[in-house]
Amino acid sequence: MHDPGGQMFRPAAGGLRGTVRVPGDKSISHRAVLLGAVSAGPVDVTGFLRSADTLATVEAIRALGVTVHEIADDHLLVHGRGWDALTEPEDVIDVRNAGTLMRLLPGLLASLPFMTVLTGDASIRRRPMGRVIDPLVAMGAEVWGRGGDRLPPIAVRGGALRGISHTMPVASAQVKSCLLLAGLRARGETVIVEPGPSRDHTERLLRAGGARVERDDAGTVRVQPLAGPLALTSVEIPGDLSSAAFLLVGALLIPGSRVTVEEVGLNPTRTGMLDVLVEMGARLHVRPSRLSATEPTGSVTAAFSELTAVDIGPDQVPLLIDEIPVWALAAARARGTSRLRGAAELRAKESDRLAAVAALLGALGVDATEHPDGLDITGCPDGWSGGDVTSCGDHRLAMVGALAGLSSRAGVSIDDVSCMDVSYPTFAATIQKLIGDRGER
Ligand code: S3P
Repeated sequence: MHDPGGQMFRPAAGGLRGTVRVPGDKSISHRAVLLGAVSAGPVDVTGFLRSADTLATVEAIRALGVTVHEIADDHLLVHGRGWDALTEPEDVIDVRNAGTLMRLLPGLLASLPFMTVLTGDASIRRRPMGRVIDPLVAMGAEVWGRGGDRLPPIAVRGGALRGISHTMPVASAQVKSCLLLAGLRARGETVIVEPGPSRDHTERLLRAGGARVERDDAGTVRVQPLAGPLALTSVEIPGDLSSAAFLLVGALLIPGSRVTVEEVGLNPTRTGMLDVLVEMGARLHVRPSRLSATEPTGSVTAAFSELTAVDIGPDQVPLLIDEIPVWALAAARARGTSRLRGAAELRAKESDRLAAVAALLGALGVDATEHPDGLDITGCPDGWSGGDVTSCGDHRLAMVGALAGLSSRAGVSIDDVSCMDVSYPTFAATIQKLIGDRGER
């Protein structure tokens, strides 16, 4: 039966070649809209990722009474008027598949005296929320959720907040960001201790907006209350390294490839994947170009490489958390057995990514063993014929499936690729451009 959401990805026989850009960073796009909404005036957002996830954030902010002008696909003007201009939404806010919106928005609303109900798709409704509900309640907000205040839908009614000291059991930028946003509106300092560094885009934007946020080497992040609105006026968003990772790994796996991704974010809390690939023997060249107002940016080139196995431990995981599915595909092609540990958090992403990756690699004939907090993957340097894989409705799994097909001998069919719209709606078009017409001969 023909599945309208499914697609076959055939071998890219001549390799991937060319220089491209990728759409704007998803994490920063969400933050630009949310923080723009509580800034003192219009915030010019360039490089915005126009995708299902980030448009859910635009819709959420509009539902709270903020005007957002869409000047171009990647250019927004968010008409911030501070927290006090936000109004109670008339209806439930649907975050769709956006975990970042689900975790950050309650922090933005925690000091406001009205009621907001947030829900999302089936994947969102399985994702743990106690990690933000408990500390927000300790700060003085009222927050309820399904399953004993653990799961979405959740309801938030803000209150007078007090700063707390909170130790996060797992490094999570979403939880940290939620508490930073609430902390701006609390009485007294808010202290968040993270077990390891997680992405720091919120801290960078808050500082650019005049807030006092500091992190020490021991992983303690402190935020001071802010007297009025944020003072952001513009946010320049680099390309998303998490999207670029698919193109780079594609180049590493397919003979004859050489791909350069330009103007991509190189924030050190996001570049763990590049370090791991270099350790595996990847021919990778990174050229930092400049510091956009808040984020390090540059270009990365990858060329076909013979890879060797690598181990990834708990300390590295937060620095490549979203790249692990595509790393697993690289490991599936490397010589030797790669081991990933300390990654149980992957079970609470858009899908259970440990189970989903093990199943996808298994369908290709690769030996991948699931552990409670990781994977063992024994690579097949000679590659695979092909197979039928499922994306589990997870955008990153769908793109891994696509690369598995492009680097196969006979092609890979994926049950649902529509989920790629969550983070990289132009993925297939960019791949086509990198194949050029060489793929048709
Ligand atoms: C994100 C943080 C990460 C990441 C997610 C985006 C963010 O989640 O997996 O895709 O924008 O803050 P956690 O912070 O929960 O690990």
